[in-house]
Amino acid sequence: MITRKPVVDLVAGARPNFMKLAPVVRAIAAADALSFRIIHTGQHYDEAMNDVFFQELGIPAPDVHLEVGSGSPGAQTAKILERYEAHVQSQRPDATVVFGDVNSTVACALAAVKLGVPVAHVEAGLRSFDRTMPEEINRILTDAIAGLLLVSEESGVRNLRAEGVADERVRLVGNVMIDTLQSWLPVARARQAAAKLELKPRSYGFVTLHRPSNVDDPETLTRLVRLLHRLADKLPLVFAVHPRTRAAAERSGIGELLAPGQARLICTGPQPYLESLSLVADAAVVLTDSGGLQEETSVLGVPCLTLRENTERPVTVTLGTSRLVGNDESKIESAFDEIVVGRWPHGQAIPLWDGQTGERVAAELARWLGVGTAAEPLAAAVSTQS
Ligand code: UD1
Repeated sequence: MITRKPVVDLVAGARPNFMKLAPVVRAIAAADALSFRIIHTGQHYDEAMNDVFFQELGIPAPDVHLEVGSGSPGAQTAKILERYEAHVQSQRPDATVVFGDVNSTVACALAAVKLGVPVAHVEAGLRSFDRTMPEEINRILTDAIAGLLLVSEESGVRNLRAEGVADERVRLVGNVMIDTLQSWLPVARARQAAAKLELKPRSYGFVTLHRPSNVDDPETLTRLVRLLHRLADKLPLVFAVHPRTRAAAERSGIGELLAPGQARLICTGPQPYLESLSLVADAAVVLTDSGGLQEETSVLGVPCLTLRENTERPVTVTLGTSRLVGNDESKIESAFDEIVVGRWPHGQAIPLWDGQTGERVAAELARWLGVGTAAEPLAAAVSTQS
């Protein structure tokens, strides 16, 4: 039996992890049942992709920085695994908590379990059923080895059951990213990011694209960028260009189509969290291939065109405001036109996306590590939410 407070490593590495980490850090600190260390793998290293998120979201500075940087998927994953393993060997935690579906998630989960450290996965169970996505492989592998699976939406519970995972390992806790959204929305709105670009609320669209399926193939990327220029003639678009996308555009010889200073397709770099949230909250439409934006637009009631053939977050389509349009230009354009004339579902409340998920995650972690009260059975938790 542990008599001191159990120590958990909270691992983050890439931009979408930071918004998920913040509410969990806050809730663990407030509950005071666990000690924690923040481990930053360094998968994302540009200031615009990382430091700014720690500063804005008030996340304490990382206790450990693994500084892995870029690399091919295998090399990057291997480097994270090797460096986190060395950290675990020298400062063994009682558990490792990983978030989402990035390379840092699977690498640190694997390093920990191999050394007998139990792993909890926040945002477990999501499945796109598309194994060409690097994130899908990361999700499947992480869930296979994690001992505690903390799930954001009911589809995740169904997916894990279908894979034969015992209910004892699974907890439906809700969506931690929505905690961050709810906490920071008033501050984000006050930033008036659209006004700084001389745009009025609901008079523009917001765009992000970075998935390999949309940006890595020069022909697909060129088609999509030309389409964005056409759509921007109907409604100005703010395009926050991800470093992967910028590099792919340069390689494809269409860098100038994403140049800054254009009047209708306004291209910026990656946006800090509060600017991004401000731009999304005031947008008439969002076009994206990001998982997080599908969720945020659903909660904000902003129409979202998801430029993917599938989603691991189906609740954003069944209850939210997102619709899958793939990367077919005519499908994207006709859906865009529907939104511009105001024909789009408003979306409904999504169970447990209530701003309290960080507290539920902290409570489940404490119980799991033997310092909390008994858990509610999953079956009861699911049936009351359906
Ligand atoms: C990663 C995640 C993806 C997540 C996305 C959010 C994986 C497999 N993918 O994709 O799930 O949605 O982050 O951003 O983990 N780069 C920079 N600066 C940085 C970070 C990356 O220039 O701070 C460049 C890299 O050099 C590389 C490219 O961007 O060329 C891709 O970075 P990488 O971390 O491999 O994956 P993402 O595409 O960002």
